[in-house]
Amino acid sequence: MTGIVYDPPPSVRGFLLSTSFLSLICGPVGSTKTTGAIMKIAYHAQRMAACRDGVRRSRAIWVRNTREQLRDTSIPDVLKWFPDGQAGIYLKSEYKFLLKFNDVECEILFRGLDDANDIRRLLSLQASFAILDEFREIHPGIFENIQGRLGRYPDKMMVPHRPEWGVDSKGDPIAGCVTDDGKPNMHLWGASNPPDRDTYWEEFLSNPPANARVFMQPSGLSSNADWVKYLPSDYYENLADGKSQDWVDVYIHAKFGKSLAGSPVHPTFSRDFHVAKATLNPIRSAEYPLLIGMDFGLNPSITINQIDPRGRLLTFADATSDGMGAMRFIQTKLRPLLANRFSGAPCLIIGDPAGQQRVQTDERSVFDILRQEGFRVVAARTNATAARTAALDTWLARQLDGGPAHLIDPCCAALIPALKGGYRYKRKKDGELEPTPEKNLHSHIAEAHQYACLHAGGPTIAGGSGVAQRREVRRVASTGWT
Ligand SMILES: Nc1ncnc2c1ncn2[C@@H]1O[C@H](COP(=O)(O)OP(=O)(O)OP(=O)(O)O)[C@@H](O)[C@H]1O
Ligand SMILES: [Mg+2]
Repeated sequence: MTGIVYDPPPSVRGFLLSTSFLSLICGPVGSTKTTGAIMKIAYHAQRMAACRDGVRRSRAIWVRNTREQLRDTSIPDVLKWFPDGQAGIYLKSEYKFLLKFNDVECEILFRGLDDANDIRRLLSLQASFAILDEFREIHPGIFENIQGRLGRYPDKMMVPHRPEWGVDSKGDPIAGCVTDDGKPNMHLWGASNPPDRDTYWEEFLSNPPANARVFMQPSGLSSNADWVKYLPSDYYENLADGKSQDWVDVYIHAKFGKSLAGSPVHPTFSRDFHVAKATLNPIRSAEYPLLIGMDFGLNPSITINQIDPRGRLLTFADATSDGMGAMRFIQTKLRPLLANRFSGAPCLIIGDPAGQQRVQTDERSVFDILRQEGFRVVAARTNATAARTAALDTWLARQLDGGPAHLIDPCCAALIPALKGGYRYKRKKDGELEPTPEKNLHSHIAEAHQYACLHAGGPTIAGGSGVAQRREVRRVASTGWT
């Protein structure tokens, strides 16, 4: 493979070198995703242990929805980087490229999914690797089933056991589709523009399982777009011209597409902008107490925040629950979290004002319970949806010195998906949106956070404790909280 020089941009390098079983990269149009996916074949092929005759053999299946897409885009893309006759031989009638370099031989099988027979044949192949280009267009069932076809080539006859590899977790001697040091060398990877919200693919990318790694590239218009040198001058600036915001969001900013099921309550939230790149740490000072926004009901939820000396609202942690009372939530979630991460920090709970109502089964209100447990607690000034939503939107919109005025720790596993669109206005059958946010598994954490934002008073109040802005407590009907 002489003469091929490939230098991956940093935003593709992690994907290229990932040795996870599953690796998916998502980015704007033209962000060199497909090229990364092509070069990843050579990367894994040369790591395969050699067969008895010294040749490192592997088999990759390159999948697109149709043979036409393979013929028009995937195959020319592969042949551009692995020229026919130089990097191997292209067998046109078989839709197969035999990649050959040094002691490496990798069969690349191009397979479309035009009809049921194609799918049946695909899912009976024995392969080492699978590549799903434009994976958001491919049925999740194919993605899941093709995983079972990997690691089957080369088999244990072709690459026999070597004593230094030892045995696997079942005690069987390691052999077959492994690297030189006896590690499994079966991989599936994919590249795509971002999928729509509320789809299988969005869920997978947002909450990948332990055997998967996800790589999200930045916007094509951001200063971190490290691939633009390979594109025509001002490519994204020209492309954005005359396009709808929805189009620009997906194909240039690499954001998930508009959901057909609903619309986010906080569309200005951006993971890139509002989620910190590293852990945020609170200051322990009476002047800067932790502000804990809390929603009650059957799914008590909290976010733990602080206004820092620069006047930013920082969110350090969140906790949510499913079907437990206030007392159990305090004992099993809130107290351990405070003890583990915020020991000794003064805190103030800002709760849904409806929590002042007595609970029918108990003569005490949730506020009474919290106070008896030793917490300082105040009611948020209102639980009106419009005011709560506006309080958080104001924080999200504000910038300080070019950075966000509201920054969230990446560990907030409930709050981030909620703000990304899980907390949403549901779309009705006629396509219109419901006027109030849907009550779902994301709404409790979002509302808890809104109470904290209401109390934090909006970003015009820089610095200070946030306690000084404590509001009057107003009783509201118990129907106002869930
Ligand atoms: N490292 C590199 N060096 C030089 N050129 C590159 C490099 N990586 C990609 N390119 C070129 O950049 C262009 C865009 O790359 P590619 O087609 O891989 O992007 P993509 O993200 O798959 O685009 P699309 O969204 O259209 O599918 C192609 O012409 C490709 O050959
Ligand atoms: Mg591509």
